[in-house]
Amino acid sequence: MLVLGIESSCDETAAAIVNDKREILGECVLTQLEHKTYGGVVPEIAARCHLEHIDDILEETFKRAGIRPCEIDAVAAAAGPGLIGGVVIGVMAAKALALALDKPFIAVNHLEGHALCARLSDDVAYPYLLLLVSGGHCQILIVKGVGEFERLGTTIDDAAGEAFDKVAKMLGLGYPGGPMIEKMAELGDEDRFVLPRPLWNSGDCNLSFSGLKTAVRKIIESYSPDNNIEHAILRKRDVADICAGFQLAATESLIHKLKSAIAVFRTRYPQGKDLVVSGGVAANTYLRRKLQQLAETEGLKFAAPPIRFCTDNGVMIAWAGMERALKGMYDNLDFKPRPRWPLDADAPKAAGAGGVKA
Ligand code: KG4
Ligand code: ZN
Repeated sequence: MLVLGIESSCDETAAAIVNDKREILGECVLTQLEHKTYGGVVPEIAARCHLEHIDDILEETFKRAGIRPCEIDAVAAAAGPGLIGGVVIGVMAAKALALALDKPFIAVNHLEGHALCARLSDDVAYPYLLLLVSGGHCQILIVKGVGEFERLGTTIDDAAGEAFDKVAKMLGLGYPGGPMIEKMAELGDEDRFVLPRPLWNSGDCNLSFSGLKTAVRKIIESYSPDNNIEHAILRKRDVADICAGFQLAATESLIHKLKSAIAVFRTRYPQGKDLVVSGGVAANTYLRRKLQQLAETEGLKFAAPPIRFCTDNGVMIAWAGMERALKGMYDNLDFKPRPRWPLDADAPKAAGAGGVKA
């Protein structure tokens, strides 16, 4: 079986074709560089870029795969959550192809794409414990099967990736911030600046990054003659030490809450063996190393998608589409794209133009 997947929910226009033997036949990703000047994704610009490039991306994906459109068995697209202007473009392209080729359409939850991606690259069995850390989301979930999620914890404010991006912006490191923070942190002393670990003693699996971000801001302000972050005079060494301290605090917060989540997972699903990380922040090698250690200590098997499939891509959507197709979970062509679409809620009850609150 062959499934085409399309991703357009944020700033990557991407497509891929996978088969049911877990092989990637062809893929293509275009990361929109237009947003760099703004220090974040501008929804209107993103939507225009998706529209401009989607046809070329699809053509290139078929070319790389050496597959003719009529040979695919189903067309999947990320139908939310995300920036709705972009989501609509990917979904419309997928529906048009499905209609023209007379193939089924599959509406994939973007987060399910991240969540199931590790099953393409590793032997990960349901149920597994998942840390999903991206630019828009930060959740700890038990993945019981396709479309079956149990959320154990979530951030109460910023997502992990968002915190990396905001700290990078304060330090003038550009967008997206995660990779730059990681690079600078390698040069830094992680113990020089002691930063808070919010919600450490909350006794649940929830996370918070807002206080950590504010603590970083205060440090940067202290390097300014008038307490204005814009006027801060930081040496490269200071920036590296702040990045290292921030990365340590963020990672330790995630590990600490995962420990509680592992205890819950063990009690509820003693047969579960895997700890998985996914989403853009999962590209962080420091975090991956610490999670690997945690898994070893806890007697679990650690899995993470290859780094290039942690950030948004077409492969994860094609693979989630494949898992759905194998179960005959197809969608109608009148499926409405959803700006909000919580993973642990099945289908929103009234997915109107404004979507449903997560
Ligand atoms: O999954 P993703 O591509 O988009 C969303 O669905 O949000 O995640 C993007 C996020 C950005 O916040 C980016 O800074 C972060 O992933 N990220 C990283 C790294 N690479 C990307 N964060 C930390 N370390 C990295 N190496
Ligand atoms: Zn994503």
